[in-house]
Amino acid sequence: MAIEKVGVVGCGLMGSGIAQVAAQAGYPVTVREVSTQLLEKGLQSIEKNLGRLVEKGTIAAVDRDQIRGRLRGTTNVDDLKDCDIIIEAIIEQLPAKRELWSALDKICPKSAIFASNTSSLSITEMATFTQRPDRFLGLHFFNPVPVMKLVEVIRTIATDPKVFEEVVAFAGKLGKTPVRTTDRTGFIVNRLLVPYILDAVRALEEGVASIEDIDNSMKLGCGHPMGPLTLLDFVGLDTTYYIANIMFDEFKEKRFAPPPLLKRMVLAGWNGRKAGRGFYDYSDPAKPKAMQLT
Ligand code: 3HC
Repeated sequence: MAIEKVGVVGCGLMGSGIAQVAAQAGYPVTVREVSTQLLEKGLQSIEKNLGRLVEKGTIAAVDRDQIRGRLRGTTNVDDLKDCDIIIEAIIEQLPAKRELWSALDKICPKSAIFASNTSSLSITEMATFTQRPDRFLGLHFFNPVPVMKLVEVIRTIATDPKVFEEVVAFAGKLGKTPVRTTDRTGFIVNRLLVPYILDAVRALEEGVASIEDIDNSMKLGCGHPMGPLTLLDFVGLDTTYYIANIMFDEFKEKRFAPPPLLKRMVLAGWNGRKAGRGFYDYSDPAKPKAMQLT
């Protein structure tokens, strides 16, 4: 069955981006949040992004109106029952995912495909919350979703190869470049990115260089768009700490162990850009100032 109608659960940073790109690609999209307030916040961020695209001349005002018209927000899970694919981008907690997937499994037809945007939880374990492990896979987007071209498509040992290829093609229709991977914690990107970011924190802890010099080294020496500590602030220290712990639990390898400085910053609530403070102070967001941490 072709994918014609898209459901997105969660309208936070990732969910709103996913809903936006799906609507931009021409799909009717229903996006669900737990409260009207969170839903409004997510829809406003889509509105802001689309407004920017119109200002820059990337899309016409009439396109924006059509994209808007394809987006429907709801707080009711039942409204997702006629979607051909449901992409989940809710909080990274297994009990919440269990509750959602088992509810959706009961109301959606057997043909619907379920995809999780999790960055670190087991897709296989999530599939066991449903009666459709053959139609369950991972679809991992990157932040900021409208900009980043990559999508990891993740199959488990139980995913039907036809369903997998259908979703690979769907990711292409969203204007993304899909890569195929398997259900190993961290998939491709976080497996490589997380140890790199954690090593940047270790380098800072060990006095190798200052925050700015570590960031500038990777920006100017390796052509990365952001240095690792700026990227950590961007992704969120709490999110990275959480992912690193899951990867360490899975592989028991030192390279995935969160360094003490990261843990202490998370305990202090210095979670990066969203908290106004991380490796940099964002009191003036246009001019972040490196913090004195060591
Ligand atoms: N939403 C939508 N569009 C955005 C955006 C956002 N949040 N932030 C920036 N953009 C757009 C801008 O409008 C601009 O568009 P234009 O080229 O059409 O004018 C373009 O992106 C470039 O933005 P800026 O000129 O403002 O700034 P930069 O050139 O510094 O780019 C960046 C910003 C795209 C975020 C770039 O710094 C970058 O690529 N950083 C690395 C991001 C990254 O590594 N993401 C992956 C994180 S890991 C992850 O998500 C996995 C998870 O599991 C942890």
